[in-house]
Amino acid sequence: MEQRILGKTGRSVSTVGLGTWQLGADWGDVTEEDAVAVLEASVDAGVNFFDTADVYGDGRSEQIIGRFLRANPDLGITVATKMGRRVDQLHGNYTLDNFRAWTDRSRRNLQQDTLDLVQLHCPPTSVYSSAEVYDALDTLVSEGAIRNYGVSVERTDEALEAIKRGNTASVQIILNAFRLKPLDEVLPAAKEAGVGIIARVPLASGLLSGKYTAATEFPADDHRNYNRDGSSFDVGETFSGVDFATGVKAAQEFSGLVPDGVTTVQAALAWVIAQDGVTAVIPGARSAEQARANAEAGGLQVVGAGLADGVRDIYDRYFREAIHPRW
Ligand SMILES: NC(=O)c1ccc[n+]([C@@H]2O[C@H](COP(=O)([O-])OP(=O)(O)OC[C@H]3O[C@@H](n4cnc5c(N)ncnc54)[C@H](OP(=O)(O)O)[C@@H]3O)[C@@H](O)[C@H]2O)c1
Repeated sequence: MEQRILGKTGRSVSTVGLGTWQLGADWGDVTEEDAVAVLEASVDAGVNFFDTADVYGDGRSEQIIGRFLRANPDLGITVATKMGRRVDQLHGNYTLDNFRAWTDRSRRNLQQDTLDLVQLHCPPTSVYSSAEVYDALDTLVSEGAIRNYGVSVERTDEALEAIKRGNTASVQIILNAFRLKPLDEVLPAAKEAGVGIIARVPLASGLLSGKYTAATEFPADDHRNYNRDGSSFDVGETFSGVDFATGVKAAQEFSGLVPDGVTTVQAALAWVIAQDGVTAVIPGARSAEQARANAEAGGLQVVGAGLADGVRDIYDRYFREAIHPRW
């Protein structure tokens, strides 16, 4: 598994990390036993980077990771958590007092005195340009509650704003073969500034596995029911913001670009990892088997001109007009 330095954290992380929203079981049915099996399979396959949030399962995802870290203290795992979505999304809630309370809760959940990396969890846009907010985050570092901070963003302009701030260690943003906008400005700016890029939703919510058909149904509590018709651009961030049927057609074309000997999932992850400026992808594996398959992408060099050009072509025909101006 290839390792890269995660921006200003200076920490070495695997290019394939693990997203753990699904382990919170806010949607879908993941038992604690299954969740631990996903963590174990990931680590056994070379993953040493987990992404979580205080809101996933209202702390369940963090707590499961915390117990895993306690049982496996010497694995050198970096955990990125997030804060700020357990309150109303008002600029005034992003205060030092709240940051202290939120990080104290995550420190308990994760069983860590000092958190490796805390990301603002897609707060209101004005928060990214607030000097007081960055001062408060610097205070958390000086108090020893956190080692580093970063941001998770919905919009590319939010990423560019955060990258300008001197101590932003990392930016988490949607980037996959069907969401190319970060390639325009965000990746070059992050690289120039030494800011890490954590590419989330790298499989376009599973579309880029190539396994769905237009008839695929998701369980009733699955968040992917919310944007099936494409009307909820960023709700659950599903399917790259287009309707499911369009996404399935695009995914079938993507599958046709995949080199022999590699799965569609692995080609999709390897494509993201190959983009200049990306540090790591954080696919959401729902089983140990998925975790192992995803981790294998961290050692693949499969992105030739055919795949690279094909991704651009699919994006231009199915996605650019519908989503490029929207974020
Ligand atoms: N605002 C934010 O900061 C934010 C928002 C969203 C996500 N995130 C982070 O990003 C992570 C990933 O997002 P995501 O889970 O929504 O999207 P994703 O990683 O693009 O897609 C995950 C889905 O892909 C399928 N999948 C994964 N590995 C597979 C494999 N090896 N083979 C076949 N299918 C596979 C699974 O679908 P099935 O369930 O159909 O098997 C899984 O539910 C989250 O866990 C979270 O850490 C952050």
